[in-house]
Amino acid sequence: MKFSGKSAKPRLISGIKPTGKLHLGNYFGALKQFVDLQNDYESFIFIANLHALTATPTKEKLLEDTENIVLDYLGAGLDPKKVVLFKQSDVPAHANLAWIFSNLVTVPYLERAHAYKDAEAKGSEVNAGTFTYPVLMASDILIYDVDVVPVGKDQKQHIEYARDIAGKFNNQYGELFKLPKEMILEHTAIVPGVDGQKMSKSYNNTIPLFGTDEEIEKAVMSIVTDSKGKDEEKNPDDLVLYQIHKLINPSQELRTSYSRGLGYGEAKKMLTADIIKFITPMRERRAKYENDPKLVREILLEGALKANEIAMTKLTEVYEMTGLTK
Ligand code: ADP
Ligand code: TRP
Repeated sequence: MKFSGKSAKPRLISGIKPTGKLHLGNYFGALKQFVDLQNDYESFIFIANLHALTATPTKEKLLEDTENIVLDYLGAGLDPKKVVLFKQSDVPAHANLAWIFSNLVTVPYLERAHAYKDAEAKGSEVNAGTFTYPVLMASDILIYDVDVVPVGKDQKQHIEYARDIAGKFNNQYGELFKLPKEMILEHTAIVPGVDGQKMSKSYNNTIPLFGTDEEIEKAVMSIVTDSKGKDEEKNPDDLVLYQIHKLINPSQELRTSYSRGLGYGEAKKMLTADIIKFITPMRERRAKYENDPKLVREILLEGALKANEIAMTKLTEVYEMTGLTK
């Protein structure tokens, strides 16, 4: 199939960095949206392995995390017939355009980025990749002329940066880039981790998406609870346990039993069982792909071909508009 780059459907792009095992926060904050939207949007989903380099992983770790995330995407239900699935590094135009964009933003502007400020606050010296992270991300997004970018709330500022950068280019060289919008689902915008903070690979507070039964149980058992007794009335929204449980089981019935004082031990057992039941079909699909590495390679190759076609067309226009080529 020749990919024309034109479709009646609106277009979306998103990616996740291969920096560790995906967790329920990644699933409900990002991945689930990719799956839910794949019929209604022309979707580009990628593995942000260039961005993962900002954490300077070893070669082995980056390869392993990349392989896992591809399988996680497919296991979670991304259909390679509907979605253009690719590795960021297989489309060199992203990094190329990022260089061009990096000349349109100032150092103080990048210093205001939350992710940079957080890295800086940790005390150790921040690498230049982390500093220019939003510029590469803007390039990932803008090169495909997308309408929306489905992400968790923590990525909102990055999408604002992409819009700003599109505006700066359009002002300086002429209209070329479409201004993208973030798509954030309010009820899953921030999934809490087992300690009640945002669930994150970097906080060691995750419930793994594709963990073993034992890993899931261990994580659920460690969810923080208060000292209120069984049968004591509670506001479910105050409970981290319920905030996680309702993602899997949003029924009113569950809410009522929490508010009537469902015991935490029993609730944790239920939650463990509910998560396992919920992920079983995804695990089975993931295992099928895991057993067919040739198919997975072909999916990524085809994705890269389609993505390169669009990205190179856009980059060529940028070259012409900026004077890099005639
Ligand atoms: P992490 O914080 O675990 O390193 P990433 O930064 O790799 O996660 O995020 C990948 C995607 O998952 C992003 O779209 C991000 O917004 C989303 N995401 C991550 N953690 C959460 C969470 N706790 N709640 C909602 N969305 C999340
Ligand atoms: N910064 C995103 C994250 O940490 C990953 C990412 C890189 C991304 N490029 C992107 C997300 C482009 C959406 C669109 O999760």
